[in-house]
Amino acid sequence: MAKVYVFDHPLIQHKLTYIREKSTGTKEFRELVDEVATLMAFEITRDMPLEEIEIETPVEKTKSKVLSGKKLGIIPILRAGIGMVDGILKLIPAAKVGHIGLYRDPKTLMPVEYYVKLPSDVEERDFIVVDPMLATGGSAVEAINSLKKRGGKHIKFMCLIAAPEGVETVKEAHPDVDIYIAALDEKLNDHGYIVPGLGDAGDRLFGTK
Ligand code: PRP
Ligand code: URA
Repeated sequence: MAKVYVFDHPLIQHKLTYIREKSTGTKEFRELVDEVATLMAFEITRDMPLEEIEIETPVEKTKSKVLSGKKLGIIPILRAGIGMVDGILKLIPAAKVGHIGLYRDPKTLMPVEYYVKLPSDVEERDFIVVDPMLATGGSAVEAINSLKKRGGKHIKFMCLIAAPEGVETVKEAHPDVDIYIAALDEKLNDHGYIVPGLGDAGDRLFGTK
């Protein structure tokens, strides 16, 4: 069964408060999302495999650990997921980045796929699918379906804010995918927005309405 991790580190919670605040402007919002993505990437990579290599310090030869070279892929769900990519790449600069374009139909709230471009060696990589918001869960489920259909196997899902409904939907559809969130909010409102949430993540990141 999928595990759900809530990253309640004080720095993440502090920055998230200003991300939520409605008077926070586009520039600051973007910077804060980028910073939180870096902090979350630090936590989500805790289980990365290591191997020992031999090195020589100025004092003596010794064995020391380095990452074992496991290949990683980051998949932002367009648009808002883009805001988290650079923050993750700061810690994992060699990761490849694929894109899955989905928008939520405002009436049905169902995800509509319009773009998919993944690294060519999908089957060899571990993936982190990223999106700031997990609301009904429809977009996350569809993005993970799309990735699995093309050969993706080892997948984690990372978001800033999740609604309980979205978490349950992803757990049910993808019991093999662990979910990493910065805050688990109260509920969805009648328009499928997370309460209290942060509003429309894509609009706030890109300054659109
Ligand atoms: C938002 C958000 C998620 C989705 C979450 O995207 O970035 O992708 O909604 O909602 P769900 O869990 O109910 O599917 P949106 O559809 O607004 O598209 P955008 O990123 O292009 O603005
Ligand atoms: N998408 C958003 O951008 N915000 C929400 O609260 C729900 C879906």
